[in-house]
Amino acid sequence: MTDCCSPAGYRWIFSERHARREARRYRRRGLDSTARRTAQLLEPNAIRGATLLEVGGGVGALQVELLKAGVTRAVGIEMTPTYQAAADELLRAAGLEGRVERRLMDFARSGNLVPAADLVILNRVICCYADMPKLVNAAAEHTTHVLVMSFPNGRWWTRLALALNNFALWLIRRRFHVFAHRPDAIVAAAEETGLEVAANHPGVFWQVVALRRLGD
Ligand SMILES: C[S@@+](CC[C@H](N)C(=O)[O-])C[C@H]1O[C@@H](n2cnc3c(N)ncnc32)[C@H](O)[C@@H]1O
Repeated sequence: MTDCCSPAGYRWIFSERHARREARRYRRRGLDSTARRTAQLLEPNAIRGATLLEVGGGVGALQVELLKAGVTRAVGIEMTPTYQAAADELLRAAGLEGRVERRLMDFARSGNLVPAADLVILNRVICCYADMPKLVNAAAEHTTHVLVMSFPNGRWWTRLALALNNFALWLIRRRFHVFAHRPDAIVAAAEETGLEVAANHPGVFWQVVALRRLGD
């Protein structure tokens, strides 16, 4: 955990109330557009029979959808405990409880305790974590087939929105911060582990990139 983002700051921003709202939104309207774009970068035959690791998965809506699409088993990693009840409820409603293992940890620090998976996802997670290279490297090293990541696209309006967000958090003295990590540095951190870019969609705010293991 970094100095700027205390556990209390994470629990405030990603509260139980936030988790219930996210779960309700997913039940009513399905995946939001960024999660949908993330899932769409995975080809159907890459999904069928694959194992999935999602880091920072929140209520786990993407895990539910990818299990329905043919993933065999999923591991969902979260650093914030507040999502647990809402995530359990979504899995129960979908009849998928036995196929997801949810673990509470900082993946950048303790990812060595988690097995590798065919598909690894980091959806809107990297901008919540200060040590980007460590987090992205850990996720990439766990990827045997495809890694999909979404993060703010680095355009001026995106950086301005993040700066205003941080200013508002500072004004109300919340110990939470969002990070405008450079997209090219994020991709380079994943490529260092032997992955190559297979698709890159800049988007209006959220850039979504898929990388596959070289020689796959
Ligand atoms: C903005 S939320 C996104 C949640 C979900 N992926 C979505 O798109 O709705 C970012 C999540 O990443 C989690 N997170 C950030 N850094 C993490 C880390 N190093 N290990 C595990 N989870 C992390 C936070 O706890 C938070 O729930």
